[in-house]
Amino acid sequence: MGDITLTFAGGRTGLTEEVLDQRVQAAAPLLAEVLAGEEQYQDNLGWLSVDEAAGPERVDFLLEQAARVRADADAFVVIGIGGSNQAARAVVKALRPENGPAILWAGNTISACETARLLKELDGYQSVYIDCIAKNFETLEPGISFRVLRHYLEQRYGQAEAAKRIFATGTPGSTLHQLCIDNGYTFLTFPERIGGRYSVGSDVGLFPMAVAGVDVKALVQGMRDMRDQLRAAPAGENLALRYACLRKWMLEQGLSLEMLAFFEPRLDYFAKWWIQLFAESEGKDGTGLYPVVSSNSEDLHSIGQFIQQGSPILFETFVTVRARDASVVLPATDKKDYFDYLTGRDFWDINDTARRATMRAHSEGGIPCLELSIPAIDAHTLGELFYFFLFSCYLSCRLVGVNPFNQPGVESYKGYMFKNLGKPGAK
Ligand code: PA5
Repeated sequence: MGDITLTFAGGRTGLTEEVLDQRVQAAAPLLAEVLAGEEQYQDNLGWLSVDEAAGPERVDFLLEQAARVRADADAFVVIGIGGSNQAARAVVKALRPENGPAILWAGNTISACETARLLKELDGYQSVYIDCIAKNFETLEPGISFRVLRHYLEQRYGQAEAAKRIFATGTPGSTLHQLCIDNGYTFLTFPERIGGRYSVGSDVGLFPMAVAGVDVKALVQGMRDMRDQLRAAPAGENLALRYACLRKWMLEQGLSLEMLAFFEPRLDYFAKWWIQLFAESEGKDGTGLYPVVSSNSEDLHSIGQFIQQGSPILFETFVTVRARDASVVLPATDKKDYFDYLTGRDFWDINDTARRATMRAHSEGGIPCLELSIPAIDAHTLGELFYFFLFSCYLSCRLVGVNPFNQPGVESYKGYMFKNLGKPGAK
């Protein structure tokens, strides 16, 4: 199927290949430090090797656990928010595996309406299983959703049967772990050395994917393959380092936004994962690129105007999918709809023509455009993409000079919320 490639596809930046190469070479020592495993981030680098959290034995164990669920469930609810659910949701929504239970999402909202709707929807299934994913089990959304769903299962199946249907993924020694021990729920591991948004290659992301029927072995292999590629490539040819240097350059040119643009709506939830990764990792200390998305061609009919002619604040990273993996040919008609010039043409080609036209119009309009070309939307490629973005994000944060792994800014609103809700100890 070929490689993932990153090219500069036009637009006004003043950036030449020579200057980019100089930037990349200047960042080579940083790449070497990161590859060696930086001491200062040791507590956050459990994802870097892939095998620490997703070695073959662990993946086999998760597949066994998932097989038990798949043999009995027709609905599986993933309870989690942020880094705890985004990666699994990205993959399940992109690949839409068949012949497994319906995968439903909870704990990512405290909307009463959404929660009530979910409970009603669950009544329509025969056999419901749940997995609550929360690193320290202090986050409000998954915490209270888990209670509601446990209660639902207990009412419906009785205590003992409900316990067999409950999984939880948390840090060993956490209150979630204790809850599992006390009540006989199956406990899975949220690795200590991996933060939420870096957790795709661990029980956090892989177990729900396995329940859905995703080929998790292929996905993990994709992560490994990208890891090996990024470890082996010299700085000048290192895809992640080039991307990180390009991002830094854009930021220095006064651009504030990176827009991930694509013409496959299957990637909508992958894009949400990407947004969280970069926003939470890089957006701090008064700097960082604000990650936004254009899911085309639909968004060309809304934000397309701004992109083309509005404030020059963004650059675009187009994700181009090379595989021709579906076909719908426009049939002939004897009714006058004036689309005969497209009769016999395939939607795939029409979509691709729209993509090329957009890249041309945007880059001719001066917007810097990068193209990240991927061979296909499949488990292996998604694994490669996850690792590529994780590693790039780490490098990007280091180049910008921020800590890639913390998120102190998200605590501010929580203080007011917890105080107003009467949480013990909240100030
Ligand atoms: O990336 C992160 O660390 C965060 O986005 C968390 O994943 C998110 O806040 C949920 O945290 P928890 O798993 O502890 O409920």
